[in-house]
Amino acid sequence: MTTSRISGFYNMTIEERRAKIADALAAPTPPDLGAWTSGGISADAADHMIENVVGLHSLPLGIALNFQVNGRDVLVPMTLEEPSVVAGASFMAKLARAGGGYQATTTDPLMIGQMQVINVTNLNEAKLKIYEKKAELLEEADSIDPILKKFGGGARDLEVRTFDNSPIGGFLVVHLIYDVHDAMGANAVNTACERLAPKIEAITGGKVHLRILSNLADRRIARARCTIPVKELAFGKGESGTRPYSGEEVRDGIIAAYAFAAVDPYRAATHNKGIMNGVDSVVIATGNDWRAIEAGAHAYAVKNGHYTSLSTWGKDSEGNLVGTLEMPMAVGIVGGATKVHPAAQAAVKLMGVKTANELAEIIVSVGLAQNMAALRALATEGIQRGHMSLHARQVAIAAGAEGEMIEKVAAQMVAEKVVRIDRAEEILKSL
Ligand code: MEV
Repeated sequence: MTTSRISGFYNMTIEERRAKIADALAAPTPPDLGAWTSGGISADAADHMIENVVGLHSLPLGIALNFQVNGRDVLVPMTLEEPSVVAGASFMAKLARAGGGYQATTTDPLMIGQMQVINVTNLNEAKLKIYEKKAELLEEADSIDPILKKFGGGARDLEVRTFDNSPIGGFLVVHLIYDVHDAMGANAVNTACERLAPKIEAITGGKVHLRILSNLADRRIARARCTIPVKELAFGKGESGTRPYSGEEVRDGIIAAYAFAAVDPYRAATHNKGIMNGVDSVVIATGNDWRAIEAGAHAYAVKNGHYTSLSTWGKDSEGNLVGTLEMPMAVGIVGGATKVHPAAQAAVKLMGVKTANELAEIIVSVGLAQNMAALRALATEGIQRGHMSLHARQVAIAAGAEGEMIEKVAAQMVAEKVVRIDRAEEILKSL
């Protein structure tokens, strides 16, 4: 990848954009972007993925520009149906470049497998007995997946928790901490838990009931940070219909918007949804399990006892805007749909990521960019202005507009500030 900045991309045709991406990649083995022409899989392939298949369901795939993560330029594939998201991420990534782009880190890819042990007579005795056999249990778990072990993964730790007052009385929960390397990890962890269960039963005299991975992947965290020079935040000069905003005003507006999400769960849910607009779309583009990521994100957002913002916004000693985002990120680049879906393969190749952690670092950066795009719009001219023209296009399509009529109908509705299907139908008839 030479650069993630491609001028005029927005106004190009789909074919021209594909050609530009191929140019920008300059990779020895460029990804086969052809998978994106067809959507990636045939109905036959889909029939092997889930049950009762009757067809396929497509979503748009867009490319977010301008991203620089840990000093490396990256073109980011985003799969989603919502207008303004790709444009918002690209614009914020452009502002962030002026401050060095996104700095991102990850923990080791540690997933947690849970074993619920019921029918235990003495919880504390059973807990200590498990700890006494910890080395043996870990050795057993470690031997289950030789491939994962060969690449550096494997069982890392075992923890025992006790719950005294559940609706069925007391029980134990054993956590198996497992390094899943470049996999999402569900298969490896679930297999390991199922395999350990008879040993745990023999040690405790209880019965291992559930054996399943936890989606609260709080040992597998991705973190991103950006610094936006305050002068980059100024906008509005000469743009039609927009009053000028100083950099300081935009910065303080974003910080005040963050403060709202920090204290109020009603706002935090929407604030975090904006983060997930960015996160999920890359997770989906790469064939990863976005429900797992959603579950982990929202559970993590309540880790201190009240639901709050996953991101923070403040300023540095020079008055620049500083954003951070920290969240679980259980994504893989091997196995599952990522491996079998050609469009997902193309997405992974486009980003040039070689490890699951590198992918996680890009995703968390996109989440932070998306959050800033939403807060910047909300803190200044409101979300509707930016949404209006894209929304108008969707309404025009819904009213039956095709080809160049889409733009014409949409433009007239935006000019009239009436974006409704009945008006779109009238305009379409009149044109
Ligand atoms: C819409 O999809 C996302 C936003 O509501 C996020 C936010 O309010 O921060 C704009």
